[in-house]
Amino acid sequence: MIKIAPSLLAADYLNLEAEIRRLEGAGADWLHVDIMDGVFVPNISFGPGLVAAIRPVTKKYLDVHLMIVNPEKHLKTFRDAGADNITIHAETAGSLPAIAAKIKSLGAGAGVSINPDTPLNKISGFLNDFQLVLVMSVNPGFGGQVFMESTIGKVKELKRRISASGSKALIEVDGGINEKNAAALREAGADVLVAGSAIFKNEDMAQTIRRLKA
Ligand code: DX5
Ligand code: ZN
Repeated sequence: MIKIAPSLLAADYLNLEAEIRRLEGAGADWLHVDIMDGVFVPNISFGPGLVAAIRPVTKKYLDVHLMIVNPEKHLKTFRDAGADNITIHAETAGSLPAIAAKIKSLGAGAGVSINPDTPLNKISGFLNDFQLVLVMSVNPGFGGQVFMESTIGKVKELKRRISASGSKALIEVDGGINEKNAAALREAGADVLVAGSAIFKNEDMAQTIRRLKA
């Protein structure tokens, strides 16, 4: 069964605990936390303090997406704050095997992400180092953007390469995901779908999450 990871970027920040309760009640599987530094991406969002504030109020798996330069410098901080999974970007990390090893040594799941313009070849040699590969279906930095259809083929090919390599990595897709494109992503081989606007813009979150899954 595919997992749904609502992105807190689209939540009501002033009422975050209540938003998390709504998501739990609506059947969310993971909580996706977007960390943006204004350098790797044009926007600034949250820091480790937010992850630490969320940690005691939920048992949900905290999926932390680092859109930051020098992610190596901040892994322990985010793990100490309570991240269950830490995903870095291949475009800005140094050695991918080294960073994966470091994340795992901290006891978190290790994820690697690629932007829409980044080819799969950038990460293909490292599929066994990571537990998760995050394929961006928009240019990272903002919620509410339009899904890039080219992602479907990229996910299919990634699925093929993961199977061929013997890796157990999950495929996560992030950006512009809604009830219209979710089915194609599931068929292409996605294991986790991140969704921000699609979930928060509909009053009936449970209905949206069901439709994204079914
Ligand atoms: C984009 C972020 C996404 C974003 C998704 O840079 O990584 O997680 O919040 O939001 P929607 O679903 O609105 O595209
Ligand atoms: Zn994200």
